[in-house]
Amino acid sequence: MSEDPAAGNLTRKTLLKAAVLATAAAPLLIGGSVALARDRGASGRPLAVTPDCTDGDQPTHDNIEGPYFKPDSPLRNSLVGPGTVGTPLTVSGYVFDLSCRPVAGALLDFWQADDSGAYDNTGFDFRGHQFTNADGSYQLTTIVPGLYPGRTRHIHVKAQAPGQPILTTQLYFPGEPRNSTDAYFDPALLMTVRQADAGNQASFDFVLNLTQPSPTPTPTQSHGPTPSPSPSGTAAAQPWAPDTAYQAGDLVTYGGAVYQCLQAHTSMTGWEPPAVPSLWQRL
Ligand SMILES: [Fe+2]
Repeated sequence: MSEDPAAGNLTRKTLLKAAVLATAAAPLLIGGSVALARDRGASGRPLAVTPDCTDGDQPTHDNIEGPYFKPDSPLRNSLVGPGTVGTPLTVSGYVFDLSCRPVAGALLDFWQADDSGAYDNTGFDFRGHQFTNADGSYQLTTIVPGLYPGRTRHIHVKAQAPGQPILTTQLYFPGEPRNSTDAYFDPALLMTVRQADAGNQASFDFVLNLTQPSPTPTPTQSHGPTPSPSPSGTAAAQPWAPDTAYQAGDLVTYGGAVYQCLQAHTSMTGWEPPAVPSLWQRL
């Protein structure tokens, strides 16, 4: 992560977050005060759109899988229940590509030890996977994992953009005494953690080693007929365009194919229909 609070500079990602929050995707985060609060852009002055991506972010480091991964975890973003013991923790952030574009529909599969430092190897306690929202955001509700011999405190995660290789890594906690003695600890994988009334709030942004396809030139709506042949009932489809408010059920054409909008959003470069299957279904 290249955001350096000491420098006081707003990075591309910080600005992007602000821009994303200003779009129709914002309702996804209205309840997510964690993601909003940690933005250093919340200093009272408005944020402008940055013209270039100059962060030079490197992909998130990988880290060992360890012996306790289990496939087929439940689809859920909360690993706690009524009887869960432990210090409440939320982890939130975004998944970006190398060009600072949010990655929608990225798989995040978390697993961790319970409050006593034990993994559930017979069931799926403290295991769960989720997919990033259209703006690349995610949030995990869990507890602070307990310590177990030989390791510092950590959360395991596998991250995967649609159709891309899996990144296996771990997230670490700042200020842990064992960070200095754990051979697998990587400071690049430290979360930002702050304590709040409701428990600890952590943030971490993933940068996946991919670049999402740039949009191809989009023909203006006044040129040319609807691509033919069109699937039945799609004659009303208009060419997809960025900065357009789409509603669920809207039809667009892109790359000679017809797509149906799955959820309302404002389109943006990087969210072309083939790149975001969570938003568009090809007909
Ligand atoms: Fe572990």
